[in-house]
Amino acid sequence: MNQQAEPFLKEPVDAAEFAQVHVSRPHESAHLHVSGRATYTDDIPLLAGTLHAALGLAEKAHAKIVSIAFDKVRATPGVVAVFTAEDIPGVNDCGPIVHDDPVLADGVVQYAGQPMFIVVATSHEAARLAARRAEVVYEELPAVLTAQQARAAQQYVVPPMKLARGDSGAKIARAAHHVAGEMTLGGQEQFYLEGQIAYAAPKDDDGMHVWCSTQHPSEMQHLVAHMLGVPSHNVLVECRRMGGGFGGKESQSGLFACCAALAAWKLLCPVKLRPDRDDDMMITGKRHDFHYTYEAGYSDDGLIEGVAVDMTSRCGFSADLSGPVMTRAVCHFDNAYWLPDVSIAGFCGKTNTQSNTAFRGFGGPQGAFAIEYIIDDVARNLGLDPLEVRRRNLYGKTHNNVTPYGQTVEDNVIHELIDELAASSDYRARREAVRAFNARNAVLKKGIALTPVKFGIAFNVTHFNQAGALVHIYTDGSVLVNHGGTEMGQGLNTKVAQVVAHELGVSFARVRVTATDTSKVANTSATAASTGSDLNGKAAQDAAHQLRARLAAFAAERYGAGSVSAADVRFANDTVVAGDAVVPFDEVVAKAYLARVQLWSDGFYATPKLHWDQAKLQGRPFFYYAYGAAVSEVVIDTLTGEMRVLRADALHDVGASLNPAIDVGQVEGAFVQGMGWLTTEELWWKPDGKLMTHAPSTYKIPTVNDMPADFRVQLFKNRNAEESIHRSKAVGEPPLLLPFSVFFAIRDAVAAVSDYKTNPPLNAPATAEEILKAVRAVRGGAVARVASTASTASESAAGTPHEAV
Ligand code: MTE
Ligand code: MOS
Repeated sequence: MNQQAEPFLKEPVDAAEFAQVHVSRPHESAHLHVSGRATYTDDIPLLAGTLHAALGLAEKAHAKIVSIAFDKVRATPGVVAVFTAEDIPGVNDCGPIVHDDPVLADGVVQYAGQPMFIVVATSHEAARLAARRAEVVYEELPAVLTAQQARAAQQYVVPPMKLARGDSGAKIARAAHHVAGEMTLGGQEQFYLEGQIAYAAPKDDDGMHVWCSTQHPSEMQHLVAHMLGVPSHNVLVECRRMGGGFGGKESQSGLFACCAALAAWKLLCPVKLRPDRDDDMMITGKRHDFHYTYEAGYSDDGLIEGVAVDMTSRCGFSADLSGPVMTRAVCHFDNAYWLPDVSIAGFCGKTNTQSNTAFRGFGGPQGAFAIEYIIDDVARNLGLDPLEVRRRNLYGKTHNNVTPYGQTVEDNVIHELIDELAASSDYRARREAVRAFNARNAVLKKGIALTPVKFGIAFNVTHFNQAGALVHIYTDGSVLVNHGGTEMGQGLNTKVAQVVAHELGVSFARVRVTATDTSKVANTSATAASTGSDLNGKAAQDAAHQLRARLAAFAAERYGAGSVSAADVRFANDTVVAGDAVVPFDEVVAKAYLARVQLWSDGFYATPKLHWDQAKLQGRPFFYYAYGAAVSEVVIDTLTGEMRVLRADALHDVGASLNPAIDVGQVEGAFVQGMGWLTTEELWWKPDGKLMTHAPSTYKIPTVNDMPADFRVQLFKNRNAEESIHRSKAVGEPPLLLPFSVFFAIRDAVAAVSDYKTNPPLNAPATAEEILKAVRAVRGGAVARVASTASTASESAAGTPHEAV
């Protein structure tokens, strides 16, 4: 059960007096990040005898492995050993949910890039070189590459999902107006700056210590134990920090942890596995790309009366997290809108490509994108301002406020948030100015859009919503915190340290957070679903609260002269105040130690109120919602397809922010990352299934020059209606949806070409090619199927820009 804070203690301080939360603080490692002294997994000093591993990757999308000759591999100077699936002592699987994910391909390869063997050598270079020298004989099998092909073949990694309320078919048929269409939304490479990496060292009595860049140390522990055939207590997984994870290290760090551990187990020496960027991108899964078809019926006012959407995701060869990603997509199709009669179908297409996985938003962005697209269509069909149509369809505050999955939206602030943003960004006047500009300019066209976000916070899977922490106070008054969350740059450790400092009334500098370690806090959940500070902040607060209670009881007795109760002892300013006595915190701690008071404690938290029926897709999957909205203004060149974001204004709800500076950073980062996804980041597979965009030379993430020229991020003044950690809200993922405004501003600009008469058939990402294609389509020329001239040579076949052609 949830150990809630003991009720008899008051707030640690008068908030204004000594607040360690709701204040901006630099990231706890900022001084290390900027000086190159932050220790990432690859920076850990090597143990004597360390060897280096590289993976041998499949060249075919789907094939039987007839034979592999390793003679040339073994003959490469420095090579020590080669391991294949046969060498795995336990189970050859690193699937997080469904066990369909071999660590090393066994007999058959299911995507180009799949690891088939491990080469271990005395140097990183020797291992990589040797891995390329295997001679593999394949017998090719038919490959299915795209979501639509998988759908046609009814080939799924998990069974299809359907969520329906009311009778959308009848409502659509009866509505005054109809719209129907289809579009695609591209995938996205996580592009963490630090790549996947694991370093494994055998320990005493069949133990294994694995340092791994991972969002989920406990999962790595289980996978390694399973793969080696040993109990979990033999395996220790540790991660001080990641150079970014973005979902890509939630499950998929498992393959690297397992391969390093297998080699270390077999050779009884430390082994490091650090794939280079191209191998990382060839091996690991990405954000799921989606294909949609939709149909909606709406009134003269633009009210959606019935809507049906059919979503198919490209999952890759194994299930990985594709089921939960689709569940979140299904639960975010509504975004901020009341959809009375709705039908949402989700299909998880099994393809011979990388196994797609978590990426910031975890399917939520893919779900919400579809309804935004539909509303954009509706507005243009009616000649209304899309913002007006959005407003009319928003969830009500007290009525029309039940989601299709049965959760009531109780904390709705989207109306006032949009009003505030529309005013502060001068939306109306700028929209007029954009129209005036477009009337004067034939080549350059501007567009503007305001889009809202409502994002559910909690893991859909109820039992993941728990966390543990340990807080130690040493006799000199310094504090050490360990919790189950992982630091990936998002500032989780900073926030947890703030919470603990606040609880104990000590300065931030007194608190240190240590590496996540499966031998300290057990059975942790992934740091994911944006819940890191919600869960671990509460768990650490629980631990710190127990310590404060013990110290308060001690101080009341020691310093209170019998007249002060524990509940009246105050902790602030690095002092403990008991009646008239004001004693330095470290002195109280030292004296408490001598009095044999336990100066360390564990803490635990389980998010209340959650329940979820996955079979029926009904319940209360989310503790609360985070809201936001953004306005973006863009200009496109209708001759080249070039696009610039001229200005972006974001207003985002993080409740009562634990650390406004970090939260603004998260909003800015998510905005630019989402903008990259929707504009320049295009994954492209050759017809034979080989990913060609596997390095920054061909895969274009945004640079600082792609930032909106004028970028204004504000936090919305709010506090969480639910009793979250200091009434803050999760911030990691929700703002990734804010740059929908960029995409729909581009669509608005393209529509200007036909004087807003047609809905541009724009798919995401809206690359220059995609913009040009949409411009051509709305001009009335057929979308070019045949690439006959130089200027169209780069266009892919109509309607399928993201698939192999
Ligand atoms: N911010 C940075 N700098 N690096 C990251 O890898 N991951 C995002 C988000 N923000 C990420 C990030 C993702 S996908 C999630 S789920 C959350 O951070 C996880 O951390 P939190 O729950 O502590 O917010
Ligand atoms: Mo984030 S996609 O939940 O790791």
